[in-house]
Amino acid sequence: MAQIEVRNLSIEYRLPKGEGTFTAVDSVSLDIEAGEFVTIVGSSGCGKSTLLLAIAGLVPIADGTLTIDGDAVEGPGPNRSVVFQEASLLPWKTVLGNVRFGLEMRRWRQGDLSKRAMQYINLVGLGSFADYHPHQLSGGMRQRVNIARALAVDPAVLLMDEPFGALDAQTREVMGDELLRIWERDRKTALFVTHDIDEAIFLADKVVVMGRNPGHIKDVIKVDLPRPRRGEMLDSDAFAEYRRRLRAHLAADMATMHLVREAV
Ligand SMILES: Nc1ncnc2c1ncn2[C@@H]1O[C@H](COP(=O)(O)OP(=O)(O)OP(=O)(O)O)[C@@H](O)[C@H]1O
Ligand SMILES: [Mg+2]
Repeated sequence: MAQIEVRNLSIEYRLPKGEGTFTAVDSVSLDIEAGEFVTIVGSSGCGKSTLLLAIAGLVPIADGTLTIDGDAVEGPGPNRSVVFQEASLLPWKTVLGNVRFGLEMRRWRQGDLSKRAMQYINLVGLGSFADYHPHQLSGGMRQRVNIARALAVDPAVLLMDEPFGALDAQTREVMGDELLRIWERDRKTALFVTHDIDEAIFLADKVVVMGRNPGHIKDVIKVDLPRPRRGEMLDSDAFAEYRRRLRAHLAADMATMHLVREAV
């Protein structure tokens, strides 16, 4: 049994003013093994965030089943942490306060909270910024705090929706390397949504490609590059082949978008 099992999952959003419902994810099935790093790519609006939110327990399921370790997902739970694109930090709390707050929210009882929070702040390389407030940090640093907060509560599954989407290309690459270094330590199950094809391949054990109208899974590509991943791998033939496959999928999706537009 896979840790996360998604079976014929459909998610619908209610449209405003009683205009019915919109199917954002249509009959999606996916297995995610414990300790796997899975990335999701696909054109805007294909349901990547919706699928991630469903696994987080933040949107209701219209049809199908979704289980984590055999238990049906019926809402958020302590076995999952979510990191969004915008670091959702409390502006009036320090870095330490924010990471501690994550533990307090989960009613963490084991040991000293500040000590545990500091361990994770050190892990993301912000040890000397523990007393800073969010506005005194760069976007990349704020996102590191966010990741520290998500990891400190020791979730079985880490869900990330374009966590580096607001960062410049260079910072993004550094953050990807950092995230893998941290992930290598205890290999938690990770689900990571991105628009960046190279990032999707570089991080993943497998890349899920989604398509739109309505949101579905087009392909699941297993990435057989060795770990730990190294920057040089981006220049390898194997990487180029993965890149080519993903680009072909996304180009096909863009082509159908044009057709839809012309038909309208
Ligand atoms: N709360 C909502 N109410 C109604 N429709 C929604 C809602 N949230 C998302 N949708 C619709 O569901 C579809 C999928 O949205 P979703 O945010 O999952 O896409 P995405 O793949 O994450 O896109 P992006 O890459 O732009 O973040 C879109 O057509 C969107 O308009
Ligand atoms: Mg999204």
